[in-house]
Amino acid sequence: MEHYSLKINGNVYETDAEPFESLLDVLREKLRLTGSKKGCDEGECGSCTVLLDGKPVLSCILLVSDVREKEVLTIEGLPQGGEPHPIQVEMTERGGIQCGYCTPGIIMSAYALLQENPRPSEDEIRFAIAGNICRCTGYSKIVEALQAAAGTPIR
Ligand code: FES
Ligand code: FES
Repeated sequence: MEHYSLKINGNVYETDAEPFESLLDVLREKLRLTGSKKGCDEGECGSCTVLLDGKPVLSCILLVSDVREKEVLTIEGLPQGGEPHPIQVEMTERGGIQCGYCTPGIIMSAYALLQENPRPSEDEIRFAIAGNICRCTGYSKIVEALQAAAGTPIR
C-alpha cells in the first residue's frame, strides 16, 4: 500500500491504495465517489470517463499511481453552488438518460468538448462522445441535449 493525496474536484483526498489499482476503483471503492460507472472495466465503453488535467480519460485503465500531481474532475465536481451543470439539466429534460449507466461518462466527454469548443457542430458532438457507448437511447436525444447545452441549433 502507498499513500496518495489526490486532487479531485478541487479538493484533496487522502487515501491508501496499491499502485496498481485503477483510478476508477479508488474513486468508487475508497473515496465513495460512485458517479463514475464501471461498465466493462477494460477501456471499451466510456462509462468511467473522467477528466485528467482537462482531458477525458478512461479511469478504469488508468493507474492511481499515474494521477499524482494531476487534477481529476469527476461528475460529482460539475454542479456549482448546488445547481446541476447545464449539460446535466438538458440531458435530464430532453430524454438523454434512460438507464443512466452511460450518462456520467457522456456528460464528462461533452463537458471536455464544450470547454475547448463552446459551439460544436453535431458532427463534433458525435465525435466527442464516440467512445461512450449507450445501449438505451439511440444517441439522438443525447446529441439533442448536448446541442441544447451548447446553444447550437437542433435539427
Ligand atoms: S468501464 Fe472504463 S471503459 Fe468501460
Ligand atoms: S442510458 Fe442506458 S446505456 Fe445509455
